[in-house]
Amino acid sequence: SIEQRVDSLLKLMTLQEKIGQLNQYSGRQVTGPESKVKTDLRSDIKNGWVGSMLNVKGVKDTREIQELAMESRLKIPLLFSLDVIHGYQTTFPIPLAEAASWDLEAIRLSAHIAAKESAAAGIHWTFAPMVDISRDPRWGRVMEGAGEDTYLGSLIASARVKGFQGEKLGNTDAVMACAKHFAAYGASIAGRDYNAVDLSDHQLWETYLPPFKAAVDAGVATFMNSFNTLNGIPATGNQYLQRDILKGKWNYKGFVVSDWGSIGEMVTWGYARDNAEAAEKAINAGSDMDMESRAYKNYLHRLIKENKVSESVVDDAVRRILYKKFELGLFDNPYKFSDLKREAKVLSDVSHKNIARDVAKKSIVLLKNESALLPLAKGKTKLALIGPLVKSKRDHKGSWIVNTDTVQVVSLYEGISNKLGKKAEIKYAQGCSITGNSQEGFEEAVNYAKQSDVVIMALGESWDMSGEAKSKTNIHLNGEQEALFNAVKATGKPVVVILMAGRPLIFNDIAAKADAILYAWWLGDEAGNAIADVLFGDYNPSGKLPVTFPRHEGQIPLSYNYYNTGRPIKNPKYITYKSAYIDSPNTPAFAFGHGLSFTNFEYKDLVLSKDKLNSGESVKVEFTLVNNGKYAGEEVVQLYLKDEVASVVRPMKELKDFTKVYLQSGESKKINFVINKEKLSFYNNQLEWGAEPGDFLVMIGTASDDIKLQSRFTLLEGNVSDR
Ligand code: IFM
Repeated sequence: SIEQRVDSLLKLMTLQEKIGQLNQYSGRQVTGPESKVKTDLRSDIKNGWVGSMLNVKGVKDTREIQELAMESRLKIPLLFSLDVIHGYQTTFPIPLAEAASWDLEAIRLSAHIAAKESAAAGIHWTFAPMVDISRDPRWGRVMEGAGEDTYLGSLIASARVKGFQGEKLGNTDAVMACAKHFAAYGASIAGRDYNAVDLSDHQLWETYLPPFKAAVDAGVATFMNSFNTLNGIPATGNQYLQRDILKGKWNYKGFVVSDWGSIGEMVTWGYARDNAEAAEKAINAGSDMDMESRAYKNYLHRLIKENKVSESVVDDAVRRILYKKFELGLFDNPYKFSDLKREAKVLSDVSHKNIARDVAKKSIVLLKNESALLPLAKGKTKLALIGPLVKSKRDHKGSWIVNTDTVQVVSLYEGISNKLGKKAEIKYAQGCSITGNSQEGFEEAVNYAKQSDVVIMALGESWDMSGEAKSKTNIHLNGEQEALFNAVKATGKPVVVILMAGRPLIFNDIAAKADAILYAWWLGDEAGNAIADVLFGDYNPSGKLPVTFPRHEGQIPLSYNYYNTGRPIKNPKYITYKSAYIDSPNTPAFAFGHGLSFTNFEYKDLVLSKDKLNSGESVKVEFTLVNNGKYAGEEVVQLYLKDEVASVVRPMKELKDFTKVYLQSGESKKINFVINKEKLSFYNNQLEWGAEPGDFLVMIGTASDDIKLQSRFTLLEGNVSDR
């Protein structure tokens, strides 16, 4: 068995070789601050002092480095890791965009293709998925997650893990996944990256931990801890998170890697006097592999001699890492992922483009469509394409990309031209830049708008405005972009605005005045084609926002599952002594779950199988969905619950189920959900998981702020279970 092979190998290892397995170095690319200490990577590898490399890719390079490891005494293969966040050769939509598809199979497949490509290029391990819940669009890394909701986020976490890891670890189309960042990084105070997190245990368990648990249940091979503190303790040195919860309560058998330099950063936080103490705290807390701090390599030996760290703690960490190397089959063949022919074949597989286009079009959210302006006719039309992102390519790739080549990216301009061929007369004006304050291009843009039948504007962020270390205090559309919109809109021509960004932006003028708005995030290589598919009706949009869009930064953090307060607003005209702002409504610009279709879905005939439930019983929910519009299309039907009275105040609504249904025009379908004990449960203030007796409100809707049907039932007896 693998356990026996690990044990026999461990017996042969010197302490230094064991510590070597816990050491991870970066290769040529850099995804964090570089260490000032110069290391001779080659000789460290040959000495067996390195367990893993990040940021080395491609069969040629990984093979060359693996050959060095094969010169070490015990020939323990290296693990090659990389941030394959949304594609390797083929760039898929950013993770937040894909979350807007609410299409778990499309998300799984996107991760699977990314895994297939990276595994063919010598990679064994991706630092994805990021499963951090975030309700703060100021935080740049919101682009890398699945948004604000724990239920949706947990399902997406599971889909991504399964996509990356495929049928079985060790298959050459799979890589190890990594659930990151453990834990609560998405709750960084004020949305500032790398900041502290202050969170009640209740929120931690209820909101932030479940996607990690879902990743564990999906078999995720590794975890990454985090830069933030959690209630004063750095996540990297946090025993409660790593030993008590992850390796204790959840009985997790994979290993935990630190974030880049996060062991050393515990010194800067003021949690350890020096790197030696940081190493002691991190390893004792359950952080198995040291990414780029060099603290384990330099100090673990001494710490063991001083009895500050027990050798059995090191053995446990080494065992976990060796186990994965065996599972990947690297001891049997260290070059299993080093096949040049396979690399060339897989990386040039054009079918991956179609998969990228499919998930890209599913990720687009139709925010607004006045007078059914969209879809546009494909016949002879005069179009004015205006805005700084019309011809952009690099921006569609977003941040965290492996393939920086923009040749294969389809711009919006190209996507529309591909779609219409010679049929359309297209005029293009940039109008302004993304961030600059010049309005010099306005005149040309307005002239072209006047000569057109329809204006299509592409506005938003550049690729480097969201991502790691890209926190913002101001998430309004930058520069003169909204002024450009106003100038163009003043021509009286119908205006479709396509917004491209890595996070929710604020664009109140556009929201109020544009005729149609598509939120297109950063959609990857096939962006232009996918947007054109939607604009011209070859795909009926089905995306729904996985995150709330505020009207103003002052509302942040803002999410759909807020509490009623003791003084809710009943009538927006009377807000004195109410839980309100005197300068803004409480409501968002666009709510979680919002997203329109070209067709119209009617919800009717809600029936619950019972109105009284005994403990442990389920209630069946059935209703009819009718497509009574002109187009075939998909609807994401959402089920929300509200526990009316409980020992802990419950949110006004919580997403508890959803399904994506395709209906032809005129078709109707009965939709069923089952509300079981699990869906009624929450953490009480003793952190016990269970359901409490009382009334529950069931809400079925097309968005969190557009509930179409509702009903109530009563749970007669509660229960508490272990979770
Ligand atoms: O995986 C990333 C992590 O999410 C942020 N810091 C750097 C790591 C490795 O590149």
